[in-house]
Amino acid sequence: MTRPWTFPIALDPRTGALVSQISRAIAGDIRRGRLQPGASLPGSRTLAATLGVHRNTVLAAYRELEAEGWIETGSRSTRVAADLPSAPVRGVASRRGTAFPLEPFAPPPNSPLPPKGTISLGGGFPDGRLVPTDLLARALRRALKAKVAPLDYGDPQGDLRFRTALGVMLGEMRGLAVEPSEIVVTAGSQQALDLIGRALIRPGDVVAVEDPGYPRAWATLRAAGAKLAPLPVDGEGLVVEALEILLDQSPIRALYTTPHHQYPTMATLSAPRRMRLLDLARKHRFAVIEDDYDFEFHYEGRPVLPLASSDTAGCVIYVGTLSKVLAPGLRLGFLAAPSAFTETITAHRSVTDYMGNQAFERAVAELMEDGLLQRHVRKMRRVYEERRAVLVEEVGKRLGTRLAFDLPTGGMSLWAKAEGLSLPRWAERCRKEEVLFHWGAAFDFHRRPIPFLRLGFAALNPTELREAVRRMAAALP
Ligand SMILES: Cc1ncc(COP(=O)(O)O)c(C=O)c1O
Repeated sequence: MTRPWTFPIALDPRTGALVSQISRAIAGDIRRGRLQPGASLPGSRTLAATLGVHRNTVLAAYRELEAEGWIETGSRSTRVAADLPSAPVRGVASRRGTAFPLEPFAPPPNSPLPPKGTISLGGGFPDGRLVPTDLLARALRRALKAKVAPLDYGDPQGDLRFRTALGVMLGEMRGLAVEPSEIVVTAGSQQALDLIGRALIRPGDVVAVEDPGYPRAWATLRAAGAKLAPLPVDGEGLVVEALEILLDQSPIRALYTTPHHQYPTMATLSAPRRMRLLDLARKHRFAVIEDDYDFEFHYEGRPVLPLASSDTAGCVIYVGTLSKVLAPGLRLGFLAAPSAFTETITAHRSVTDYMGNQAFERAVAELMEDGLLQRHVRKMRRVYEERRAVLVEEVGKRLGTRLAFDLPTGGMSLWAKAEGLSLPRWAERCRKEEVLFHWGAAFDFHRRPIPFLRLGFAALNPTELREAVRRMAAALP
């Protein structure tokens, strides 16, 4: 149980004895639930100093509270009684409603954490156990100890050293020619999307999205006022012909797309569609928001370069993240776009949360300058490629007659079609077998129960993957 930092009680010497003012205030706080059963109270000396009263006044108040059963005093500590004389009433601490009207807002459902013992194939997350925490901790320590410590207010666009390192990475790995001025650092791609929404979208603007697709992006774009237009996806990624039909009907402000590994199908947008898409964006003057969340994890041949690398007209807003290459909890992402747009985005960032965490930005910049992040990515690519092979082999062996899928050329998950199988029933039986996966409606724009499921392989080691598939097979309806 932690001690309160200080223990403010408003005392008024004009309104009666201090002893009873103190004891009534503490009893009131216990009744309201502000002080929980078992919580530590400050020692009499400390509380007397905080309140500016004599220690005997506090001791007398504590004696009164003890006699009434509110608190227990031991030789070394004073605590709120574990068994209170009356149950706490609903007070400020537990009030749910507001006195002012609320705007309704419904984000996509969050997947609750799986119960302990459950193996989760949900999400395409990196393996948290393999995050290079020692390297990060050392780099962070150096950043904090640097002569110019990054603990003051800094640049809302993001630390220059980090933006420079990102620019080098984007140039060397992803074929983009961007200056640090054309990059804004964000708290993950999610904040990048939020800022893009603020800077780009006016209420009612049409934004085209992929279906199936990424509900978190849909929610953010909707929150900015966009009217979303879902477009189909096939084995070559977004069906660009459907975009052309949409453009015949109405202008669009933007398209949100995941061309490298379409989320969630993992299809890569084909070369002819890329060219056509960029032509359309130029002609119809809409922004292409390219979410390239896991560029590094491509296993078959060379990764296809981002759309942004062929954009000569300034149509593409490129969004990236370190959530997959390092860890999602760091909340480090970025966007790259023409500087006219990054200036606007920076202005929006400065009024949103002012700036990011410069200490972490510098620490990661150092890892990039020293080639350590690149080494980590190479290692993780080998690890995840092996895990992909294990999952594919196990699923083929145990579930091959029920699931049809293409080998994912990249990414962290497998997208499979369920053949002649009730997914809701299977998912429910899997829950009892303590294995979890995401399926169907979670990715469909209209939340229809489409017969597909997604199995994330990156976060589980081969033993865990084999056990997960064994449980899934045991739970087959
Ligand atoms: C399509 C897509 N975009 C972006 C992200 C990464 O989000 P963030 O950078 O906000 O952690 C994910 C992570 O799951 C994703 O699936």
